[in-house]
Parts: sequence; C-alpha cells; structure tokens
Amino acid sequence: MLKNIIKASGLCIILVLCKLIAYADEGMWLPQLLQSLNEKEMKKLGMKINAADIYNINKGSLKDAIVNLGGCTAEVISDKGLLLTNHHCGFDKIQNHSSLQNNYIRDGFWAKNFSEELTNPGLTATFIINIEDVTEAIIKNLIPGISERDRQSIVDKNIAEIRKTKTRESYQDVIIRPFFEGNKYYLFITETYKDIRLVGAPPSSIGNFGKDTDNWMWPRHTGDFSLFRIYAGKDNKPAPHSKDNIPYKPKRSLNISLDGVKEGDFTMVFGFPGRTFEYLHSAAVRQIMKILDPAKIAIREKALHILNDAMRKDEQIKIQYASKYAGIENAYKKWIGEVQGLKGKDVISKKKRYEAEFQRRIMANTAWNNKYGNLLTELEAAYTVNDSFALARDYYNEIISKIELFTAADKLNLLVNTYENNGEQAYLKQKIEVKSAIDSFYNEFNTSLDQRVFEALMEMYLQDQNEKYISPVVQKMLLQNERDYKKLSSAVYSKSIFANPASANKIFDMPPQEAVKAIKNDPGMQLLTELQKSYAGSVTSVLTGQQATISSLQRMYMQAQMEVFPEKKFYPDANSTLRVTYGTVKGYQPRDAVKYNYYTYLDGVLEKYKPGDYEFDVPQKLIDLYKKKDFGRYGVNGKQPVCFIGSNHTTGGNSGSPALDAYGNLVGLNFDRVWEGTMSDISYDPDICRNIMVDIRYVVFIIDKFANAQNIVSELQFVKKK
Ligand code: ARG
Ligand code: GLU
Repeated sequence: MLKNIIKASGLCIILVLCKLIAYADEGMWLPQLLQSLNEKEMKKLGMKINAADIYNINKGSLKDAIVNLGGCTAEVISDKGLLLTNHHCGFDKIQNHSSLQNNYIRDGFWAKNFSEELTNPGLTATFIINIEDVTEAIIKNLIPGISERDRQSIVDKNIAEIRKTKTRESYQDVIIRPFFEGNKYYLFITETYKDIRLVGAPPSSIGNFGKDTDNWMWPRHTGDFSLFRIYAGKDNKPAPHSKDNIPYKPKRSLNISLDGVKEGDFTMVFGFPGRTFEYLHSAAVRQIMKILDPAKIAIREKALHILNDAMRKDEQIKIQYASKYAGIENAYKKWIGEVQGLKGKDVISKKKRYEAEFQRRIMANTAWNNKYGNLLTELEAAYTVNDSFALARDYYNEIISKIELFTAADKLNLLVNTYENNGEQAYLKQKIEVKSAIDSFYNEFNTSLDQRVFEALMEMYLQDQNEKYISPVVQKMLLQNERDYKKLSSAVYSKSIFANPASANKIFDMPPQEAVKAIKNDPGMQLLTELQKSYAGSVTSVLTGQQATISSLQRMYMQAQMEVFPEKKFYPDANSTLRVTYGTVKGYQPRDAVKYNYYTYLDGVLEKYKPGDYEFDVPQKLIDLYKKKDFGRYGVNGKQPVCFIGSNHTTGGNSGSPALDAYGNLVGLNFDRVWEGTMSDISYDPDICRNIMVDIRYVVFIIDKFANAQNIVSELQFVKKK
C-alpha cells in the first residue's frame, strides 16, 4: 500500500535521486583528485590532515609508505623498510619456507635479526611515484565508429609510444591504465623493489584464526598480519636479490597510534583495490546473480568438499593443499554472500529505477536522445544473448583450473610450443624454467586426490551443460568407459605421465624430439587439447565478439551516466591502481533484531576456542597472556581489542591496506569484508557494507607480548598517547 502511494506521488523519483548522490562511505577515489573531489567531505567526517598530506608529488606524503605487494597492499612502518601486510597475503611465502620440521604455518616465524630474514624469489613491492592524466594523448587519433578491435590496437600503440618516450629514471617503470571503462587514461610512474624478505608471522592459529568458518564473517577475531622487509641496493634503489643488499630507507613510513578508535571516528584505507563493477546495467547484475555466481558456487562446492575431506585425514595433504584450498574457498564464500546481498537489497530493482531515471533525462534532451536513446535497450540485448556463452566460459574456466593434471599438462605443453615454433635451442633454454615450475608443482600435488576432483568435475562438465558446449570427443570417451567417471579417470590417470612426478620428470631426460612426442601423445594432454579445441570452437569464437560489443556499450553508458547525472560524484571502478576510500567506524544491522557491535576483544577468541581444532585452536601462550591480563600498553580497561569494522568501501587487493585515523596514523590493518556486504563489488549499500580491520594494538601486542620480538618492536614509531 505504502509502496503504491509513494510510486503514485512521484516520491520514487526523489528517492532515486537521493541514492544517486554517492554516500560518503561509497567510493574508491583517485589520490591525485582528493583535493578537488573529496577533501571537504573528508574533513566534515573528521579528517584533520589535508589531501596534500595524503598524496603529493613534490614532497613526502602518505602515499610514499604504500606498496603493491604481489597483488595485495602493504605499508612501510619503520625507517628500515619494514612492511606490514596480512598473514593471508604472506601465506604462500610462509608456506614455501615451511616443512614438517620447520612448520612456520603452524608455529609462526620471527627473525631475530636481519640475517635470519628469509628471501622470497618473485615477490616484489611497487611504489607509486607520480600519477598523470594522459587521456588526450591516448585517444587523440581514435576515429568515431571504428571497431572495438581497431580501437584497442590504436590505444595499445599510443600507450607503447608514451611508455617509450616518457622521461623517467632508469630504475622506474611506466604503467598506463584505462579508467571509467576507457573514458579516461592515467599514467603511473612506479618503482619496484625485488628483494623482499620475510621478517615475521604469527602462527596460523592467530594469523588465520577461525579459518574458513570465520572468513568473510563478523564478529571476527583474526590477527591477520605478517611482516616483510624491502631490501635495496647500496644506493637505496631497486636491485635484484643479493647478500649485499641493505634494508631500504623509505621516503616515508607510517606512525602507529595506540589510542584506538571509537564508533563514528573517521578512518581511511589506502591501497590497491582489484576489481569492482559499480556501473553495470541491471541485465548484467541479473546475469551474475542468477546464472554465473550460482554455477561457480556449485562447482567449487564439489571441489572443496573433496579437498577438505582429504586434508582433514592427512597432515601432508593439509600442508600441500592449504593455500590452494583457501584460495578456492575464499571466492566461493564471497559469491554466496554476494548473491544473498544482491537479492536481499533487491539491487536489480534499484538499478532499474536508476535506469528509468536515466532514460527519462535522456528523452528530455534531444542531443542526448540522439546519442544515447537506445543505449539501455542495446545493453540489455547484449547481455541477454551473452548469458549462455558467459556461463559456458565460467564452467570451462572453473573446471579446467581445478583439475591439476591439466595444470601440469599445460606447463609441459610450453615445451612443445617452444620446440615447434622456435626450435631446439629455445627448447633447451625453456626446459630449465619448466623443470623448476614442474618441481614446485609436484611438491603440492596428490594424484589420487586430483583424480577424485577430476571425476566430480568432469561429471559436471558433461552432465550440467548445454550439449552444444561439450566436446563430442569427450562425450564419446565417456561412452567408451560405460558412462562411469571412475573408469574415465583411470583410463586417463593410469596412462598419463603427468599423474606422478617420477614419470613427468622423465620428460626432461629425453632428447627434445622424443619429449615433444611423449607430451603430445599423453592421454591427459590429448584430453586437455580436445577440451581447449571444443571450447575455442563453440564458445570463444562467439564470446570475443559479444565482449567487444559489451565493452563498447558499457564505455558509452559510463560516459552517458557522467553527463546525465552531473550532481553525482563518480569514482572509477577498481582496477588494481592506488585508491583512497574513507568512512567511519561503524557497527551494522544485517537482519531483523540482529545488531553487530563494531569491536571485538580477546575474550571473543577464548569464547571461540576449541582445543586441538583445525580452525579454532588457540596457542597456550596466548591463553596465558589472556588469563594474566598481560596486555601491557595495548589493552583498554582490562580488555585486549582485536578487530573493528567501518564503512570504508574496499575489495580484494585492499588486503594489507593500512587503516588510518583522522591524523593519518596507523590504527588498523584491513583484511576482509563482512559477508552480508560482499555485494559492494557490484553495488555498495551503506547499511550492510563494512570492511574488517585488525586493530594495530592487537598486531603489536602479538609481536611484543606473544612473540617477544623486541627487535621488531624497537623499530616501530609510536605517536604520543592522547
Ligand atoms: N576474505 C579475505 C580475502 O578476500 C581473506 C581470505 C584469506 N582467509 C581465508 N580463510 N581464506 O582475501
Ligand atoms: N581479503 C581480501 C583481499 O585479499 C580483502 C577483502 C575484500 O575483498 O574486501 O584483498
């Protein structure tokens, strides 16, 4: 009834308009535009510093303490290049240094001096030196109406040209990225350090406390942090790993405040958010929510079930698969939350109301109508024809990437391609790299476990998909094996050289020609090739064109939204570039009668404690500290704070980002979002979207009281207590 009255009275339009003005909490803002777009609002929310203290290219600013650390964010917190990031960001590296004897995942790791810090080949830390708008130079010679492919090739040429001619120091790099769906281009001068060493990590029972049960959940009690250090050449510039490198002397390192935060306090998060999709058409949201997410969830559920079963029974498998399992589970659980949130907040209707207002404004303006009159209809049609192809793509990608026999085959296939395209010399060079990749692959591989995954997922591939996307050869193979997936898997695994490291390694002893033949004739390789061929023929061949159409329509839609809603402040979707997001410390109410407080304490860790449990065990030392209330200067009123939440708009990639207070001091470390709010990648809702941060007092409490790593504590810079 009330709904009808509101609709009839036109109030609906007013409500839509209110939603159009971006909420203070929503947005991942460009640091170089804070002054013009956000500073006023940030100050209104309580910020005490200026935009120029956050981003400044002429003198030191907070941005000089922030790095991209292999896809996560990390920050410099000492004048000796000490880096703070999440435990789950360092997990893979901690795992690489772990064995059954030195189990750093289980027991933690603390270097007592520089010489004990552990090297991590391949791990890099990238600083952003400068950001420039280069849109004009990139789009200058684009001719209206050209195909998406031609457009891209002109853009690529322009990017290459600018990268070549841009003046920079020899140790700097130039990156150019599209923003606002290709309506803007920004250039980044970067400096990448390549010698990054592991300094410290708490045991998993602290750093990953609650594991998958608590992942994406609030209330949370995880001390999700680890410490690394940047090493530089003698001149403090980036240098390849060397014993002679020295701890990096930063332009800026963050100061730590032990004052804590209270509800309503200003906070900002500074880091490298990965990807968001805030400006999609409602048809795209429908596709994600009703088709793609549910399919991916179902596939991962099968795989996770099989892996979990094996990991719980076997400590060796648990170590081998811990990192992979966490990765598969992480997105799986996020998608479940995303679908629930999109449904619960009825984002499709919200988008449709927005589109109705968009269309109303377009129709009222002839120039707009000529340009954009059919845009929404075309977008809707483009997504509708794309539905089944997008599903086939996700099915293919999800399934192929979970079957590790294919991963091995793919790695060895590199040798075949190299031999056939570039000859024997190139092959011999390539062989060294492939051998090392294969060695580390088999360190984390269990044949019978993979075989079980194969059986379950090939069944999904063959049973759950539209016939036209399934390879007929694979269908025939199934028939030959009496429609029995176990038989199908033995037919492949009993003969494939990739099924175990010994037979796979024989490849490297063969003369090139023979090795190439053996790889090509392998039943695992042949099956993969067949799947790839049928995917290319029935899916990619159509999908590429569809995606080009969608990209060009979405680009125009983005441009149109910015023209048609001049009262709205737009921020570009996340694209792994440096952003600032800000909001306040805030609890939330996810469901009727449920209200979440914004803080958790060590008491909650003990409430969740299950002795010996795989997820909720607690180290004895931590229990002792709790019992003695030995919190030192990190506790308040006899309690030890652990985590808190806020309304900062974050996403994957923001892991490890600093949470800063009104003065730019470090008060927390971002590591997650609440489950109800994971829809914020597609539609931010101020009621339920919250980021989760570990309180910096818990981090330092663990380093100091739990690990007694005084060498690390003495490096930290604390601001005076207020
Ligand atoms: N959900 C967080 C993120 O997206 C943390 C993931 C790591 N933790 C885990 N239990 N898998 O990355
Ligand atoms: N844990 C995420 C990451 O690794 C951050 C959580 C999120 O997606 O917001 O970046």
